[in-house]
Amino acid sequence: MQANRMVIIGATSAIATELGRIYATKRWEIYLLARSPEKLKILEDDLKARGAVATHSRCFDFAHRGNYQGIVDWASQGGCIDLLLIAHGVLGDQKASEESNELALQDFEVNFLSYMCLLNSFSKNMESKKKGTIAVISSVAGDRGRQSNYFYGTAKGAITIFCEGLRNRLFKSNVHVLTVKPGFVKTPMTAHIKQGPLFVEPHKIAEDISRAVERKKNQVYTPWFWWIIMTIIKMIPEPILKRLKL
Ligand SMILES: NC(=O)c1ccc[n+]([C@@H]2O[C@H](COP(=O)([O-])OP(=O)(O)OC[C@H]3O[C@@H](n4cnc5c(N)ncnc54)[C@H](OP(=O)(O)O)[C@@H]3O)[C@@H](O)[C@H]2O)c1
Repeated sequence: MQANRMVIIGATSAIATELGRIYATKRWEIYLLARSPEKLKILEDDLKARGAVATHSRCFDFAHRGNYQGIVDWASQGGCIDLLLIAHGVLGDQKASEESNELALQDFEVNFLSYMCLLNSFSKNMESKKKGTIAVISSVAGDRGRQSNYFYGTAKGAITIFCEGLRNRLFKSNVHVLTVKPGFVKTPMTAHIKQGPLFVEPHKIAEDISRAVERKKNQVYTPWFWWIIMTIIKMIPEPILKRLKL
């Protein structure tokens, strides 16, 4: 019998690595795509040691637009995709983006435009096979614009809206779309930020994603308490929100 197949885009991300480990122990076949060949090699060895029946890897830098359909062809060769995770991203420097359109566009390419193209290409493949789950990492930062990170937040908000539309389109084809909204996670992305009590380890996020995939959830706030925090933040009227230092 053919093993279940998982495709991880941005595979070397700390959150994606932890999710890959969960599916490796379930003895899935795992396709890994990331920009660093050295990190990919280490990750492949790790996942094989944890039980992955096979791993395949490929490099891609999302700062440059490329052959997205080629990624889909590679990842779907000889079988169906059961689970696709898209996880890459950069936090970016809000102040630097305010000063430079070039930098803002560069980050938007990685954080949203590459997601849009990948989802567009992968969804056609999965729609035609009429199965599979697409899990996409957005962020609580995409729920409301704040002065401290609205360039990053805009890309994440765009991912959330895109996934909503895609979920609506793919429902009739039996392809499920999960939007993941993490809060603060202890990963290389946030290593430079002072970490308070709301920060959690990436394996906690991966466990929540895995559970949400199993339960066919449409959206998951992770950890769960971000659902409460963001419900309150979304209720703040704009005339008040614009006066706050957030
Ligand atoms: N950490 C948080 O607090 C937090 C909160 C909400 C949402 N998120 C989201 O969670 C996802 C995973 O991030 P993480 O927290 O696990 O951080 P991470 O470990 O720093 O992972 C970021 C990943 O993005 C990859 N990447 C960055 N630029 C790329 C490019 N141009 N081309 C290809 N890959 C690129 C990095 O590759 P390298 O390994 O080569 O650097 C790395 O694998 C991201 O979408 C992030 O926005 C994170």
